[in-house]
Amino acid sequence: MTVTTEINGHSPEKLLAPVLSAFWDQPNSWALRTYLRHEGYEGMRKALAMDPDAVIALVKDAGLRGRGGAGFPTGMKWQFIPQGDGKPHYLVVNADESEPGTCKDIPLLYANPHSLIEGMIIACHAIRSEHAFIYLRGEVVPVLRRLHEAVREAYEAGYLGTAERRRQKLGVDGLPGLDITVHAGAGAYICGEETALLDSLEGRRGQPRLRPPFPAVAGLYACPTVVNNVESIASVPAILNKGKEWFRSMGSEKSPGFTLYSLSGHVANPGQYEGPLGITLRQLLEMSGGMRPGHRLKFWTPGGSSTPLLTDEHLDVPLDYEGVGAAGSMLGTKALQCFDETTCVVRAVTRWTEFYAHESCGKCTPCREGTYWLVQLLRDLEAGKGRMEDLDKLADIADNINGKSFCALGDGAASPIFSSLKYFREEYEQHITGGGCPFDPAKSTVWADEPRSTHLGVNA
Ligand SMILES: Cc1cc2nc3c(=O)[nH]c(=O)nc-3n(C[C@H](O)[C@H](O)[C@H](O)COP(=O)(O)O)c2cc1C
Ligand code: SF4
Repeated sequence: MTVTTEINGHSPEKLLAPVLSAFWDQPNSWALRTYLRHEGYEGMRKALAMDPDAVIALVKDAGLRGRGGAGFPTGMKWQFIPQGDGKPHYLVVNADESEPGTCKDIPLLYANPHSLIEGMIIACHAIRSEHAFIYLRGEVVPVLRRLHEAVREAYEAGYLGTAERRRQKLGVDGLPGLDITVHAGAGAYICGEETALLDSLEGRRGQPRLRPPFPAVAGLYACPTVVNNVESIASVPAILNKGKEWFRSMGSEKSPGFTLYSLSGHVANPGQYEGPLGITLRQLLEMSGGMRPGHRLKFWTPGGSSTPLLTDEHLDVPLDYEGVGAAGSMLGTKALQCFDETTCVVRAVTRWTEFYAHESCGKCTPCREGTYWLVQLLRDLEAGKGRMEDLDKLADIADNINGKSFCALGDGAASPIFSSLKYFREEYEQHITGGGCPFDPAKSTVWADEPRSTHLGVNA
């Protein structure tokens, strides 16, 4: 794909900010030798020469916010780890990525696994950890293999391993040993929730834990633990290498930096687009070729299926934490799933709700029972067997789940219900008055035989 269009007087290159994805299109982008040709492990060298607290302060001042969904400041999370407590500290990287629409960490790990490993080494130095874990969604075997190989390369280079070997290879006195364990999860969405993930990593059934205590106090094996998203940690080396001012030169005051936006659905060129926070969906669509030919945007999710739907009225909302929040949704994982006018919103919401009902871990009643009943009502509505009072019942059940569940999976399940009723109530009513779905599902299918761009200008 060649991009030539100017957007608001800027070239697309100026609007994009490829950092993590800068060399995904190069041969063997995943190999250590390629990473080293692109300033790989420079950030680590700078960090290891610094006091751990100074590293935390730098990441805090840079303003990096967690890319796993909630946008919690990364440096602040690291600072919560108690020091001098005599306990082991752990870093756990959340690579579960199972939310419908969310698809950034897996391509990142596939194309550039060393950015994560370098970030982990820096984070472990900062929180004084000697053992880190990557909890990967187990289905993605090719990524698992790449990760194993990248970790092996990092051991071979002496970035990981015993204290003696690291000191010798990296030339840093007093460096402790560091191990990374790659763990393949068994494929449950709830295991992306950080405390369920910790239970699963410990060998138990993955269900969320009661908080407090928070993982920073009693996480993995009841020891202080930082759980961070893949993209959060992979963003750290560039901050160390290029500085906080460089990072803050992108994005906004409260949402600084670059990030991966995953464009999917009825768009001409789905893929990963790495740009500054605060870019708009209109800009991303204009530079990527827009919606599929002859069609227009109807609704979209800013950050995966758990974030309330937005419509074509929201094309100019800045895609940062504050901008999307002010529009009544959440930036989440920046998974921009775009649906055109051929899509039945009732059908889309039913499919998502079936996912939540299936993935509900069953620990708490509002989510376990509520998601089940939402599915029953939605299936009836989709089949034209619903009644007008069912719409209020849907909203009522969603209200009983939202904020009343044990973990955020429940809130996520309520989001598509509330937002679709807010913007598309008439479409629900049409299913009732017309006795069925007015849309032809065949027309809404995304073509399957086109190449997919993984990064602007790169087809995979
Ligand atoms: C049901 C559920 C699934 C989640 N899945 C993921 C996931 O796959 N990856 C992720 O990083 N965070 C996921 N989260 C958020 C994590 O609980 C946690 O907030 C995140 O890993 C923190 O990382 P960050 O501070 O770097 O954003 C999920 C949360 C919930 C409630
Ligand atoms: S909200 Fe759902 S997934 Fe979370 S604890 Fe309750 S039942 Fe389990």
